[in-house]
Amino acid sequence: MKILSVVGARPQFVKLAPIAEAAIAAGAEHVIVHTGQHYDPMLSDVFFAELGIPNPDVHLGVGSGSHGVQTGAMLAALDAVIDEHRPDWVLVYGDTNSTLAATLSAVKMHVPVAHLEAGLRSFNRRMPEEHNRVLTDHAADLLLAPTEVAARHLAGEGLADRTVVVGDVMTDVLYRVRDEVSGTPSRLVEELGLEPGGFAVATIHRAENTDDPDRLRAIVAGLAAADRPVVLLAHPRLRARADAAGIALDSGNLVAHAPLGYPELISAVMAGGAVVTDSGGLQKEAFLLRVPCTTIRTETEWVETVELGWNVLIDDPADVPRSLRRAAPQPTDATPYGQGTAAQLVISELAARVADAR
Ligand code: UD1
Repeated sequence: MKILSVVGARPQFVKLAPIAEAAIAAGAEHVIVHTGQHYDPMLSDVFFAELGIPNPDVHLGVGSGSHGVQTGAMLAALDAVIDEHRPDWVLVYGDTNSTLAATLSAVKMHVPVAHLEAGLRSFNRRMPEEHNRVLTDHAADLLLAPTEVAARHLAGEGLADRTVVVGDVMTDVLYRVRDEVSGTPSRLVEELGLEPGGFAVATIHRAENTDDPDRLRAIVAGLAAADRPVVLLAHPRLRARADAAGIALDSGNLVAHAPLGYPELISAVMAGGAVVTDSGGLQKEAFLLRVPCTTIRTETEWVETVELGWNVLIDDPADVPRSLRRAAPQPTDATPYGQGTAAQLVISELAARVADAR
């Protein structure tokens, strides 16, 4: 079986790690295509190096641009790549313009497409990720749903017969890295002289939070007013927007810091004891580490984290300090994201269908 993975953005490299490992273990041929959507070393190369991911076989070097320009450049470049490799499956990793471009290219060339993270919905039609997910789900041949909730969304859209629940591959890598970093001190704690258990890790990068200067200013003010240090791991988009609007990221209790590699991020979240974010992945990672999370968004795709009490959505950034002070959630042993074995299941689902087709 030959699988061609198309990745381009930071969280996709994390999800690629367990897939690449499971593909090798199953003896599958795995071609890795990096679109170049993320190109800064701390958003890209560091994940390949630290998570032991094989280097990409193909790098499209597409870079940044408006949605249409970026997606179009990828689409144009991917036709030749997919045609050259003619894989049994093109595997796409969800949410991003890289996912949509690879899906469109593959379906038009009659190459089967499997969508990891199928069925996630925010029901917010203003988010680029929501357009990308819905379009990808309706074009793909196999919908690899991470949760039962995602599978229900797909059934509601008439896609049940293409859906299989496999669990969440990010959970696989999170458990592995958590076990590797447990017991070693967080470098961030040492570098910034933080008190373990006494700070929050924050990330903000969504367009709806960064691109309106008034909104961004209010978020920075909310974080700065927290009752403890808040370390903001600043995505380049956030820094660019803050600079353009003349917003100082270091103020009050807020300390801006460069993004971290994955093991260091997990170590910092475990050490800090609190998370404030608008990232989908980090909400889920906080839950899996049983660290309370505050999410600055009006909705989430990972509703289980909210229902189980570990994640709180806030729209008004002035509520950040209050949310950080809230009482500890009820302990839970629920596993809505699987047992950490999703990648093996993905590879066996793909292999079973290749065998059936032959
Ligand atoms: C993308 C995904 C988002 C995902 C996020 C993870 C889409 C529509 N969005 O958002 O779903 O959660 O990745 O981080 O695909 N930039 C750099 N260096 C880089 C990459 C980007 O400086 O290596 C800056 C550029 O100014 C660029 C901006 O960040 O224009 C936005 O990058 P882009 O890839 O368009 O989207 P993200 O916000 O990263």
